[in-house]
Amino acid sequence: MELYRRFRFLSKKGPGALQPDELSEYKTLQANMETIYSTATICDYHNQTKCDLILEPDIVTVMASSEDWDELLYTWEQWRENTGKKMREDFVRFVELSNEAATLDGFSDTGSYWLNAYTVDEREAEEWTDGATLDQQHFRMMVDAVWQDVSERLYKKLHAYVRMRLQEVYPGKIDPTGPIPSHILGDMWAQDWSNIARHVMPFPEMPTFDVTDSMVENGWDIDRMFHAAEDFFRSIGLFDMTQTFWDKSVVNQTAWGKTMVCHASAEDFCLGPEGEDYRIKMCTEVNMVDLITVHHEMGHIEYFMAYKNQPLVFRDSANPGFHEAIGDLIALSMSTPKHLEDVLGLTPTPAKVSDPRYTDDEKRDLNFLMKMALEKIAFLPFGYLIDMYRWGVFDGSIPIDELNAGWWNLRESLQGVTPPAGQRGEEFFDPGAKYHVPANVPYIRYFVSFIVQFQFHARLCEAAGHTGPLHTCDIYNNTDAGGILRSALEKGFSEPWPKVLSELGGSQNMESQHIINYFEPLLTYLDQELLDADQCIGWGDECFAPVSLADRSVIPKQDPRDNETAAGLAMSEMNTDMTNLVQNATLVDWTYYNDVTTANADASNEAWLLVKNASGKWHKDVIESYNYQEFKDSYLRRQFELQKNLGTAALTDEDFIELNKIIKDMTAIYTNR
Ligand SMILES: *[C@@H]1O[C@H](CO)[C@@H](O)[C@H](O)[C@H]1NC(C)=O
Ligand SMILES: *[C@@H]1O[C@H](CO)[C@@H](O)[C@H](O)[C@H]1NC(C)=O
Repeated sequence: MELYRRFRFLSKKGPGALQPDELSEYKTLQANMETIYSTATICDYHNQTKCDLILEPDIVTVMASSEDWDELLYTWEQWRENTGKKMREDFVRFVELSNEAATLDGFSDTGSYWLNAYTVDEREAEEWTDGATLDQQHFRMMVDAVWQDVSERLYKKLHAYVRMRLQEVYPGKIDPTGPIPSHILGDMWAQDWSNIARHVMPFPEMPTFDVTDSMVENGWDIDRMFHAAEDFFRSIGLFDMTQTFWDKSVVNQTAWGKTMVCHASAEDFCLGPEGEDYRIKMCTEVNMVDLITVHHEMGHIEYFMAYKNQPLVFRDSANPGFHEAIGDLIALSMSTPKHLEDVLGLTPTPAKVSDPRYTDDEKRDLNFLMKMALEKIAFLPFGYLIDMYRWGVFDGSIPIDELNAGWWNLRESLQGVTPPAGQRGEEFFDPGAKYHVPANVPYIRYFVSFIVQFQFHARLCEAAGHTGPLHTCDIYNNTDAGGILRSALEKGFSEPWPKVLSELGGSQNMESQHIINYFEPLLTYLDQELLDADQCIGWGDECFAPVSLADRSVIPKQDPRDNETAAGLAMSEMNTDMTNLVQNATLVDWTYYNDVTTANADASNEAWLLVKNASGKWHKDVIESYNYQEFKDSYLRRQFELQKNLGTAALTDEDFIELNKIIKDMTAIYTNR
C-alpha cells in the first residue's frame, strides 16, 4: 500500500512533460518573472534621485512604519509599477505553457495539478481513512467551509474594528462601511497587519507583547534566537539541530556580506537516513517577528529530521500545509505572555491604568489576542485568495483580459480591501507584486497551515493536560504532547493527511472551531466594542462572492493491481541512486541562492545534468522494463504510460533536469509566506 502511494505521487512530471522548445520557453518566462521581482527597486518618496530602494528591508520598512498616506500610496503604487506590470505578458504565456504541461500529466489544468497533493483516492481511503475519500472538489469545499465560518465569526469583526480605529489615524479618508484601502495596513500586500498594532491595541497603555525592546535590552543576538527555538523543540522530545546546521546555515546577512535572496527558507540536504545536513537561510534581525520566523523555519528542519528514514518520495509533510504549521504551532506556545516572561525572561512592563470593565490580566490577554489576530486572522483571506485566483486563471474562469480585475474582485470580496486610489486598469498585473506568483509557488498551504496549527495546538494542549483558555496554553517541557507530534511528523507523506490530522488534530477534517475557540475572549470584546460604536460589520452587502466549484477532478476508479514486489525493489534502487545526485545538486543550488553569480548558476545547471543521467538510467531500468499494460491498477498504469511517452518521444536533457527540479522542490525547500 505504501508502495502504491509512492508510485502515485512520484510519476507526476509537471513542466517536465513539455516539448523541449516549450520547456525552454517556460523556464525562460519563469526566470524572467523571478528576476523582475527580485531585482525591482523604487525611488525614495522623499528623494526622487535616490532610486535604489529594495523590498527588504527598505520598502517593507516604509510600509510598516510610515503614517503618511501619500508616501504609503506612492510606495504601494511604485512597487506594482516595477514588478507586476512588467511581467504581465510573461505571465499570460506562462499560464498557457503551464496548463499544457498539466494536461500532458493527465490533469485538466495547473490548478488541478497543484491540488492533487491534497487528495485521497479510494484505495488509500480503504486503508487509512475508514473509506472517506477526498477529491479536489471536496478539498476545495472543505477549505471554503472553513473560510466562510472564520470569515463570519472572526475576520469581519476584526476588519470592522481595525477600520474603525484607522479612521482616527487617517480622518476623512476611510469609508466606515466600505473596504479598507490596502496600503495602510502595515504591509505591502495587506496580508499581515501586525505592524499597525500600535494603532489598534484595545488598551494602548498596556504592553503590546512585541518584546523586541526587551530582546534588545537583554542582549539577545541572532544566535540566541536560534538556540531558544532549538531549546523548545528539545524540551518536548524533538530533535537538536546538527553540527552541520550550525556550521552551514546563513542567518546573518551582515556577517555573510554577499548578495543573497532574503526570503527565509529551510532546506533538507540530507535526503536520507545517514545525513545530517539541514540549513536555514534567513536575513535575521533581532526582533519578535523574526523570533517567530526562526521557530517557523526550524519547524521545517524538525520535520525533515523526523521523516528522514522514509523513502525519498515520503520525505515530505502529510500535506504542504503541515510543513508550514509545525514551527508556527510551537510559536503559539512560545509567544504566550507567560512563556515569554518565565522561560525567555522577556518582560514587557505593564502600566497600571484603571478601567472598571476589565482587570489588568484581562487587558493583557486582550492585547495579546489582538496582536495574534493581526497576524493569524488577518492573513486567512489572503492565504486563501492567492490560489483561488490562480485556480481561476488556470481553469479560464478568470479571463486573460480581466487578470487584474479578477484579482481585485477577490481582494475586495474576501479580504475587504481596495486599491488605495481607485480602480486599477488592465495595464497592471497586481498579483505579480507578490513573490509566490512570479516564483510560481502554490499558496493554499499557508491557509491550511493557519487553520491546522490551531487544531494541533488544541489537541496537544489537551494531551498536555492544559486547563483554562486555549490561548494561555504552553506545551514547553511536555513530552506527552511532544510524543504525539513526533510520531505524526515521523510518518512524513507515507499516509494521507486526513489520517495524520486525526492523530495530531483530533479529526480527519480541517476544523474552524479551534482557531475560533482560541480567539473567543477577543471576539466577545470586539462584539461589545462594535456594538457600542454602532459599527457595520462587513463591507457593503457583497461580503462574499462564491466561486464556481466545478468538479475538475480527474481521479480514475481503482482496481486491484499486481507486480508490486518487483516494482517495489526497482523503486528502492532508484531512490538510492537518485539521492546522492539530488543531494549534490541541491547543495550547488544552495551556493547559488546565497551567492548569486553566473558561475554558480552554471554549476547548478551542471549538477542537474548529472541528475538527468541517473534519471535516464531509472527510466530504462524501471519504467521501460515493466509491462505496464498488464497492471490492473489504472493509476499505476497511467503513470507508466505518461513516463513511457516521455521516454521515447520528447525526452531531452532539459526535461529530465526539470523533472528532478520539481522533485527536489517538492521535497527539499520551504520558503516563508
Ligand atoms: C538624494 O539621494 C541622492 C542619491 O542617493 C544623494 O546623493 C542626495 O544627497 C540625496 N538628497 C538629499 C536631500 O538627501
Ligand atoms: C467531515 O466533513 C464531512 C463533510 O463536511 C462530514 O460529512 C463528515 O462527517 C466530517 N467528519 C468528521 C469526522 O467530522
